[in-house]
Parts: sequence; C-alpha cells; structure tokens
Amino acid sequence: MKKESKYEEKGYNFIINTLKHFKRFFTNIVTDFTVFEEKIRFQKYKLSFGERDDDIYISTFPKSGTTLTQVILYCLTTEGKMNFNHIYDVSPWIRNASFLRQKPKELASPRVIKTHDKYKDFPKKTKGKIIYIHRSGMDVAVSMYNQQKNYNNSELKFDDYIKSFFKSKNWFNHSKEWLKNKNDFDIIYIKYEDLINNKRNEIERIISFLNLKCSETAINRALKYSSFTYMKQHESKFGDQPIEKKEKVYNKFIRKGKEGEGKKQFSKEQRKIFNDLYIDKVKDLEKKIFINE
Ligand code: A3P
Repeated sequence: MKKESKYEEKGYNFIINTLKHFKRFFTNIVTDFTVFEEKIRFQKYKLSFGERDDDIYISTFPKSGTTLTQVILYCLTTEGKMNFNHIYDVSPWIRNASFLRQKPKELASPRVIKTHDKYKDFPKKTKGKIIYIHRSGMDVAVSMYNQQKNYNNSELKFDDYIKSFFKSKNWFNHSKEWLKNKNDFDIIYIKYEDLINNKRNEIERIISFLNLKCSETAINRALKYSSFTYMKQHESKFGDQPIEKKEKVYNKFIRKGKEGEGKKQFSKEQRKIFNDLYIDKVKDLEKKIFINE
C-alpha cells in the first residue's frame, strides 16, 4: 500500500472509532432518558391509582408463583367468580400497566397488586401489606430459561442462559434485599414450595396475616381455582404475552409447577457457582425467616 493510502486508511479508522464513541455516548443518554421517563410516568400512574391502607401487594422475583398467589388472593378477597378475561383486570401489575400506557383500573378494596420491583425501587412509605413469595433460585432459573426460550428466543441454550443468570446476580440480590426488609414493611414470607405442597396451611397464614374474614367456601374456591390443573386449563386468563413478538403464546406459561427441576438440570459446576452466591447472599436470611416462622 502506498504511503498516502496508509494515511487515508488511518484517517478512516479514526473517523469510524470516533463515530462509534459518539454512538455509544448518545445511546447511553437515550437509555437514561427512557428510564427516567418511565419513572416519571409511573409516578403519574400511581397518583391516579392512589394508595389505600388495605392494599395487598404480592411481591416476587419473576417465576416464583406470583400468578398462583394472585388467584388465591382474588378468591379470598372477592366472591371468586373467575369471570375476568385476564388476572391483570382484577389484580394489576401496576409497573407494567404504566409501561404499557394503560389507565389505572377502578378496583374495590382490598386491592391485590402484583410487583416485581427490586426492594430499592419499592417506595419506602407504601401503604398496605406485602406477601412475598420466595422460590428456590435454581428452580426460578429453569423456569425463567423456559420462559425466555418459549417467548423470546427459541435458540437459547440453557448453559448460556445460566451464565447470564449468574452474571446479573439478579435473583440473589433481589431475594437478599427483600428478605432483609431494611425498611420494615409489613411482610409475610411464603415459600412457593410450601404453597404448592401445603396450600391450605399457607392460605390460613395469609388470612390471619391480612385479618381477612373468609368463609370455608372462599377457601375452597381459592384451593380449587389456584390448582395447577384449573390454571393450566384456563391459561389464557393468566399467561403473559411476549413483548417483542406479534404472535401470542399459549400453553407455555403455566408450565410444570414443580419443585426440584433446578437440581436436575444444573451441572455440577453450575451448582457450585450457585451455592457460592447463595451462601454469600441468601442462605442465612432464608434460615432466619423460614426456620423461625
Ligand atoms: P414453572 O415454569 O417451573 O412450571 P409466576 O407466576 O411468578 O410467573 O410463576 C410461574 C411459575 O409458577 C411457573 O413455574 C408456573 O408453571 C408455576 N405455576 C403457575 N401456576 C401454578 C399453580 N397453580 N400451581 C403450581 N405452580 C404454578
């Protein structure tokens, strides 16, 4: 290559790299603005949704049994007619509703509200009580992997997904902060595993925590309509839909509803990484809450 061409090539490289930097810089700014805009939008949503002393929040890390708990609470707090199109009509996920530019719904008290908020994003002075559902992190990972694969990326490999699960540490940090409950919210902690294996007992704990007056009929409705079989049969009332794809996905949301899949699917190395993070962030808090309960 001639000397002049070499200089020319260097010049182009310089321009390309500079443009790349600018692009990254502006993309970050756009992302920051979008996040900020969503925050403000949510504040506005909450202003019109309002707050009530008897609001009931179901707080979870995704794929921990949120929907099943929404159905239980819906049955315990209403006549349990199940005559809604989608569970979000009677038990909204307000952060998502705001994101989707939906209007807040008029709901009778007590309202049953879903949240996946990180602890730090859940406003300190929120009124009402919180039911926190905690599920084995390994099972959550398997459930999330299947959701990602079925809804967003059919090519996704389990090993790749697990790498990102560890890298983000989202489940570990989310659980840690909610189990710690630094702000002293009025919370009852329920394990997904107890909920599916000993549902009546957990329902009774919820009733007593919320001081609800429930008839035996209401309890039986909660047991029946939150069963895996019923929810699977009526999946369109419960399932989320893919955000990016146009085609709807059915029969994939109420999936297996079991405990212990993680232990089977994680390799020895993956179990070791999981356990190290689990011991560091979650184990002691879990012990304190669930052994003394
Ligand atoms: P799996 O994917 O392991 O089957 P969320 O509602 O928080 O998204 O949780 C979804 C998980 O709860 C899925 O777990 C789903 O199958 C399970 N689930 C939903 N309804 C259930 C029910 N009635 N009984 C037991 N598990 C249920």
